[in-house]
Amino acid sequence: MTDIDPMAVKLFSFLVFTKLEGAVTAGMIHLGDRLGLYQAMASLDRPLTIDELSSHLSLAPRWVQEWAHNQAAAKVIEFTRDDRGRETFWLRPEARMVLADEENPAFGMGMFHRLPQTMAALERLPESFRTGMGHDYDSHGPEGAVGIERSFEPWSNAFLIPLVVPALDGVVSKLDGGARVADIGCGAGGAALRLAQRFPRSEVVGYDISRYALDRAETKLRESGVANARFVDPRREPLPDDGSLDLVTAFDCVHDMTHPADVMRAIRRSLKPDGTWLLVDIKALDTFEENAAKNPMASLMYGISVMSCMSSALSAPGGAGLGTLGLPESKARAMAEEAGFTRFRRLDIDHSVNAFYEVRP
Ligand SMILES: C[S@@+](CC[C@H](N)C(=O)[O-])C[C@H]1O[C@@H](n2cnc3c(N)ncnc32)[C@H](O)[C@@H]1O
Repeated sequence: MTDIDPMAVKLFSFLVFTKLEGAVTAGMIHLGDRLGLYQAMASLDRPLTIDELSSHLSLAPRWVQEWAHNQAAAKVIEFTRDDRGRETFWLRPEARMVLADEENPAFGMGMFHRLPQTMAALERLPESFRTGMGHDYDSHGPEGAVGIERSFEPWSNAFLIPLVVPALDGVVSKLDGGARVADIGCGAGGAALRLAQRFPRSEVVGYDISRYALDRAETKLRESGVANARFVDPRREPLPDDGSLDLVTAFDCVHDMTHPADVMRAIRRSLKPDGTWLLVDIKALDTFEENAAKNPMASLMYGISVMSCMSSALSAPGGAGLGTLGLPESKARAMAEEAGFTRFRRLDIDHSVNAFYEVRP
């Protein structure tokens, strides 16, 4: 013990506690989003005193002040002392996009929305490490589904129709003419509804095993008045197996599935010979070393995998357990071939975490 450099111990402790700082500040970001603090700062759009910010939201000033001190110390929000010596807080333009503008593709509050539910999984996980069995998405409750929805909607809202669908060979004209479409692992249904709205002659069916996600999708379907979409649980109504679909989509869900190889075979059976499967999954690399070296978010992703993605993928006996970084291109390609697909093309679409593949029979 005496040979250990005390400075090395200090530095290592610092490293460990920076992780706790991140987790605690993430909790404060959750509160900023949930209480509308960022929205208020964005809409008032000037340096605000604590009294101004708290009275705008009818919140207790001392609590808002301590929150603001955390956020400014973490450099999430900005701090200036005004010419009367009062503390004021404000958002940089780029912070407004990430923290407060739900319509912006850079909006990032979805994962923070579901932080309490994600962290609550820690109570169940010691048992999972002993038994090997994980928990599906519904273990995160209804707010878990809303968090997923808010995570994926902003980018999809901005880019699915103008950028992603046109990148698929011949798909826009098929959809314009009237095509049969399935969105697998549809979550709260945003992508399915957008496709149905933009292509009113096509029929879109969203499939998900989460009742909370399906409830959200049903609510949004009713609110939208869209008539050519519906949502089902594939355990009650499986994908058709008669080669009748023109397009199948799967956004950020195959790595979460307990039996992805079976699902890929079912997708292959559902598609027409000239049909298309749009597979969107995390831009993982082949080995742990590559992910750790090249992906600055690798530790976040492996952790989310334990609490959410891999847990879901091990939530039934015999689960494949791929997890967040478990479906790199090489594996997706090999599994697609195994499922009977013969063509596999990576699309030239720039996304911070996802890769896009056109997979065809
Ligand atoms: C990360 S979410 C993505 C949801 C949605 N595609 C989106 O982009 O917002 C993964 C979804 O896959 C669903 N899922 C997992 N296994 C599934 C399966 N075997 N069949 C259908 N959906 C599944 C989960 O319930 C969850 O809603």
